[in-house]
Amino acid sequence: MTTTLDAKKTTVSEKPAPELAPARDNDTTIFEARESEVRGYCRAFPTVFESASNARQVDELGRSYIDFFGGAGVLNFGHNNERMKRAMIEYLERDGVAHSLDMYTTAKRGFVERFTEVVLEPRRMPHRLQFVGPTGTNAVEASLKLARKITKRSTVVAFTSGFHGMTLGSLACTANSYFRSAAGVPLEHVVRLPFETAPGGGIAALEAYDAALADPSSGLAPPAAFLVEPVQAEGGVHVASGEWLKAVQDLARRHGALLILDDIQAGCGRTGSYFSFDGLGVEPDIVNLAKGVGGFGTPLALNLIHPEHDRHWSPGEHTGTFRGQGLSFVAGREALSYFVGDELMDDVRRKGERMAGALAELAEELAEHRFEVRGKGMMQGLDVVHGGLAKDVAKRCFESGLLIGPCGSGGRVLKLIPPLTTPDEDLEEGLELLASSVRAAVAAHS
Ligand SMILES: Cc1ncc(COP(=O)(O)O)c(C=O)c1O
Repeated sequence: MTTTLDAKKTTVSEKPAPELAPARDNDTTIFEARESEVRGYCRAFPTVFESASNARQVDELGRSYIDFFGGAGVLNFGHNNERMKRAMIEYLERDGVAHSLDMYTTAKRGFVERFTEVVLEPRRMPHRLQFVGPTGTNAVEASLKLARKITKRSTVVAFTSGFHGMTLGSLACTANSYFRSAAGVPLEHVVRLPFETAPGGGIAALEAYDAALADPSSGLAPPAAFLVEPVQAEGGVHVASGEWLKAVQDLARRHGALLILDDIQAGCGRTGSYFSFDGLGVEPDIVNLAKGVGGFGTPLALNLIHPEHDRHWSPGEHTGTFRGQGLSFVAGREALSYFVGDELMDDVRRKGERMAGALAELAEELAEHRFEVRGKGMMQGLDVVHGGLAKDVAKRCFESGLLIGPCGSGGRVLKLIPPLTTPDEDLEEGLELLASSVRAAVAAHS
C-alpha cells in the first residue's frame, strides 16, 4: 500500500461485501407512496425516465421514446441541447450567480441584450421585459394585475377553450371545467366570449359584444383587457386568423382595454416564427412568454409590456423570489441564436408541413371517422372526436415508444409538439408510430 487511495481500496475490499441494493429499474414505489395524488403526467407515461437527448427520452430500462410532448412545450430546442448545456456548465464553473432575485447580473444582461437585438428591434417593438415568477401562470397573473391597475376595471375578456394557468387569476381565464372546479372559490371578473373557431365565434360574436358594450342598458361593464392565445394549445389546437385577432385588437382599443397575447406555448419559434402572431398585423400591449423562453427546459417567464403601460408599475410592486433564473438566462440567450438567420424557422415550417401532411393522409384514410387536422408550424393537432379514443391512442403510442398527449374539449385532440430540432428520422418514425396507434385504436373501438 503505497498511496492513501490504495489504502482506502484495501480497507473497503477487506470489509464483508455490502448487500446488493435492490433493483431500481422502473421502481415507482416511492412515488406512489409519497408523491401527492395530484401528480399527473407520470400516470400517462408510467415509467421512470433516466436521460434525454434532443427528441428522445430514455427510461431506466433503456427504452428510448420519441418525444412528441416536449415537456408540455418547453423543449423547443431539444433535450439537453449541447450548446446550452456547455454555456450553463461554464456559467456554474465560474460561480455565476444562481439565485433569481432581480439584481443586475451578467447573465441577465446577456439575455436582455440578445432578446432586444434578435426579437424586439427587428419588429420595432419598444416593449420592456418584466421577469415574473418562473412559470407561465405567473406571467398571466402579472399582466392581468397591470391591466386592471391601469384601467381601474376588474373584468377581463377570455375565450372559450382558453388555457392560461392554474393560479386563481389565470384559472378564472382558463376555460376547462375540470381545472376550474378545483379552485374552491368563485372564479370571477371574467367575461367569456367564443374563440374564433368555436360555435358562435368569429367576427359576429365580437360585433355583438361591441354593440352590448356601447349600449348603456346592456348591464356590461367595459373590460380591462382581452386575453387571447393566438394559437390555442391546451384548448385543442385552434388557430386564430389575423383578421379575427385584429378585430379583437380594434375592439380592445375602442373600449380602452389592453390586448394581452398569451404566447406561452405557441411562442419562441413553435409555429415557424418567433411569435405565433408574427406577420398578422397585431400590436399587443402585453405578450406573455414562458415555456420555451428559457431554452433548456429550465424555468423562465416574462411579460413584454409596452412602455406606455409599463410606466404604471411602481418599483417592487409586483415582486417574488424567483424572477429570472440565472441558468435559464444563460441557456435562453443561446436559444436566441437560433433566430439569427432563417435556418431553424425554415426547418420548422418544412417539418410542420410534413406533420400536417402525414396527419391529413391518416384522416383521409379513416375518413368515415371525421377526424380533423389543425395547427401551425410544429404544433399540430389530430382531433379524433372522442376523448376515449384519443386516450387509447396516446396509451398505445407510449407502449410503442412515442410520447404524446391529448388536449382539447374532453381530451379529444392529440397534440404534436416535438422539439423544433427533431431530426427527420425521428419525426418520420414518430409519425409512423402515431399512425399505427391510431389505426389500432380505431379498430379496437369499432
Ligand atoms: C397558453 C398557456 N398559457 C399559460 C400556461 C400556464 O403555464 P404554466 O403551466 O407554466 O404555469 C400554459 C401552460 O400550458 C399555456 O399553454
